[in-house]
Amino acid sequence: MNKLRTTITAIGKYTPKRILANPELEKMVDTTDEWIRTRTGVIERHIVEKGEATSDMGAAAFEDMKNRFSVDPLDIDLIIVATVTPDMFFPSTAAIIQHSIGAKNAWGFDLSAACSGFLYALVAGLQFIETGQHQKVLIFGADTMSSITDYTDRNTCVLFGDAASVVLLESTKGNDDSGIIDSIVKMDGAGQKYLYMAGGGSKNPPTHETIDKKMHYLYQEGRPVFKFAVSKMVETATEILERNSLTGQDITLFVPHQANIRIINACASKLKLKDEQVMRNIDKYANTTAATIPLGLIEAMDEKRIKKGDIILLTAFGGGFTWGSILLRWGFNYG
Ligand code: COA
Repeated sequence: MNKLRTTITAIGKYTPKRILANPELEKMVDTTDEWIRTRTGVIERHIVEKGEATSDMGAAAFEDMKNRFSVDPLDIDLIIVATVTPDMFFPSTAAIIQHSIGAKNAWGFDLSAACSGFLYALVAGLQFIETGQHQKVLIFGADTMSSITDYTDRNTCVLFGDAASVVLLESTKGNDDSGIIDSIVKMDGAGQKYLYMAGGGSKNPPTHETIDKKMHYLYQEGRPVFKFAVSKMVETATEILERNSLTGQDITLFVPHQANIRIINACASKLKLKDEQVMRNIDKYANTTAATIPLGLIEAMDEKRIKKGDIILLTAFGGGFTWGSILLRWGFNYG
């Protein structure tokens, strides 16, 4: 079977209307706007309204995609939703989105890889395009982090926000050389102890005790996560550039996962990238887990920072631990 090349042909995003800015957090926990800005880079984050779930944000992101590009939900073959905050254990958020957007001919599934979820889902989705099994695959990165955040814990509540974004994958046409060039995805389960949500699953089914112990909220040991994030993101970004005979100078834009501005800056400096080569929007959204990278891509597109033919490097690190890099050549001009 001939291997086809996969490219992103459409993109959409959704961020909830409600904004939770640092001064409001100052009233909720013992923190300051100054600490949050300097230690994390976050100024504000978007938070869902009560009752608004991950699938609602995903469907809204698809609506945005339809408003920007010509996409018919009936043409979609497969839906993959990268999320650690599904609407519920089952049915999958993919099934719920399939129904709400009217993608009647699609099958799909959820994929759990925390902050690396979008990269993992992209790698999973492209297999179906490259083998010719499917023509149109939707990849969602969507997380309602506010649903698993303890707003009395200053160590974590300042870090996260809610958002969804979606890309459409198709094969490239003719001799177009755009598309996904290479990918590296990695995992090391030894990192599970630093970043997790212990309660609610089969290990600790929900009880009054698990709730009292706040096990239904995410837990993080920030320092080791920070250290691993920088070293693994740099390692994988360097490896993917080197094995494609490229250097940092060859890429138009580096779109890293947005977990902490100091992680982003450390990676950019080790990769010897100029400021204009680095996507940074953590100030507006905080860490939206699986949504950060596609949100960075669509904003870069809207800001005209990327055009057809540009080389883009996506790199993420997250709970698991999971991490990876994807190298791609952007396929279209927008606006
Ligand atoms: N406001 C004020 N002080 C705070 C605070 C807040 N919101 N959060 C933590 N602190 C305090 C701590 O309690 C600690 O106080 P202590 O020294 O008296 O114990 C102090 O600040 C320093 O804590 P530390 O954890 O060393 O801070 P840090 O510089 O490592 O920053 C993180 C903390 C969480 C911002 C940072 O470690 C981080 O971003 N880690 C990685 C996050 C990440 O990537 N997560 C997602 C994976 S993709």
